[in-house]
Amino acid sequence: MCGIIGYIGKRDALPILLEGLRCMEYRGYDSAGVAVISKNAVTCVRAKGRVALLKEKCLTETLEGAVGIGHTRWATHGEPNERNAHPQRDCMGDVFIAHNGIIENHQPLKDHLIKKGHKFLSETDTEVISHLIEEYDKKEKDFPKAVRLALKDFHGAFGIVVLSRKHPGVLVAARFGSPLILGIGKEEYVVASDANAVLPVTNRVIYLNDGDMATLSGSAYEISDFRNGGGTQKRKKTTIEWTSSAAELGGYPHFMLKEIMGQPQSLRDTMRGRLLSHEGTVKFGGLEPFEKRMRALQHITLAAMGTASFTCLIGEYAIEELAGIPAKREIGSEFAFRSSTVNAESALLAVSQSGETADTLNAIREAKRRGALTLGIVNVVGSTMAREVDGGIYNHVGPEIAVASTKATTSQALLQIMLALYLGRLRGMVSRSEGQAIVAEMQRLPKHVEKILKSKERIKVLAKKYKKCEDFFLLGRKYNVSAALEGALKLKECAYAHAEGCSTTELKHGPISLIVPNLPSIVVVPRDALYEKNKSSVEELKARKGPVIAITTEGNKELEKIADAVLYIPKTLEMLTPILAIIPMQLLAYYLAVERGNDVDKPRNLAKSVTVE
Ligand code: G6P
Repeated sequence: MCGIIGYIGKRDALPILLEGLRCMEYRGYDSAGVAVISKNAVTCVRAKGRVALLKEKCLTETLEGAVGIGHTRWATHGEPNERNAHPQRDCMGDVFIAHNGIIENHQPLKDHLIKKGHKFLSETDTEVISHLIEEYDKKEKDFPKAVRLALKDFHGAFGIVVLSRKHPGVLVAARFGSPLILGIGKEEYVVASDANAVLPVTNRVIYLNDGDMATLSGSAYEISDFRNGGGTQKRKKTTIEWTSSAAELGGYPHFMLKEIMGQPQSLRDTMRGRLLSHEGTVKFGGLEPFEKRMRALQHITLAAMGTASFTCLIGEYAIEELAGIPAKREIGSEFAFRSSTVNAESALLAVSQSGETADTLNAIREAKRRGALTLGIVNVVGSTMAREVDGGIYNHVGPEIAVASTKATTSQALLQIMLALYLGRLRGMVSRSEGQAIVAEMQRLPKHVEKILKSKERIKVLAKKYKKCEDFFLLGRKYNVSAALEGALKLKECAYAHAEGCSTTELKHGPISLIVPNLPSIVVVPRDALYEKNKSSVEELKARKGPVIAITTEGNKELEKIADAVLYIPKTLEMLTPILAIIPMQLLAYYLAVERGNDVDKPRNLAKSVTVE
């Protein structure tokens, strides 16, 4: 939610800032801006809309200089317009700041500063930061110290980069609750919310911790803790293994399609080196130190938001089925409000693509306070969650760029089933031969997905047929309730269609009153133990003239006589079915979005990583 970047070195800052902002646009894209120090002046350019517009605007300005900051915004305080875009400045136009997060106590601070004569130009909470730094800078003359003193006055979450015309050789960055990565080049530094924005400069990075303030000059950097007097902190450098080309389109028209089509590979990458075929189990390096605790677990809470939370409905079932441990999905933001029984005999499993979702992070912290073991399924390497959980499992699917999640989703679902199998074997609930059979089915998944992806042209035709429909139902049972909910979210996010996902049986308890001839239902009806019941639901929909797209098991031709269209998925284990069933729904959402002329990769009002509560 908002991407920030700062550069100091020997090169022209502007192209580095703009490229970094382009990589981080998924974090917010309603306005963008840059500020560059050249000679003794700061030039700041801001634009409403995308980074591409900002880039165009920069062509008409002189923005030469080797120190600069940039921002791409997802509005929280103040509507998206140029005035509220970042960088925000102080009264004199000396201090410029790019901020990600929310300053919760901005109003009292603003009132106080207004009394002191400060003039505010925007409706943002961010502007208060630049004015407060200005205030401290008057007294201190030591810019990093002025920033540190100001930061101590804020409540809320922030990642900031700040520069000052009066101190042109220094750039200061700090984080508390919002991610920040420091890239260490040769006599140059870049700091940004996402590693992809750092990579064009260097792959040597430090993941900053909450409380860290980095003071950067062209030739040196220092990290201190702004909360306790500014003592120097030692932080480990890491080398990022992937390259920035992982974030390129590679011939596809959209990242969403690239990521959908990449799922055979991303599922292979998720399993690589982890499946022990002979033992019929799974190996997770990050969980090994906790084996004893996991044997004795009494309860598991799965916490996540959005797509990730829908995959937890699969994990919930699978953990109970394979490991015999009571498991409950909890919306991350609600976990802390429950007087639940989570304790030292429980585990909290957090699931998050970004590893930065504020609500999920809060759940982890609350679970820690209650003494629970914290586990994480996280895609972004080095993210806050990856560093905060006791035991982590990485998805290994590479950067997911489209705002609507696809390849991370199927990987999250698979990892939860793998975890359930691991726990089941560990606790003696699953025999070796049962485990071997599950592992063998998992290994077949990528091939199954390849097969489903071949039906993309058929789904494109269906999207054309239903492009004018404003409402959809997505239905499934047991494991496939997860697919129904996720399919509905995809239609909302990408196609801007009102879509409701629920259990097929729930339909009869009210929603069926909405069924009319232009309200299609997409129903997951695999050939499994619930097949006859699900088939009856399809009949009920048809009896009310509701169009039905059925997703069923290959070879089951029966539904062709009842449903308006039938899409096929290969036969697999019941618990693995949603991983396959979600793929046609992803494709349908994608093609509907294209048909409707929507911005597929950056849908309106959304941000991929929601770092505020
Ligand atoms: C946002 C995104 C969703 C995502 C959710 C959780 O709402 O728009 O696509 O599922 O955050 O994100 P996470 O990074 O924690 O998986």
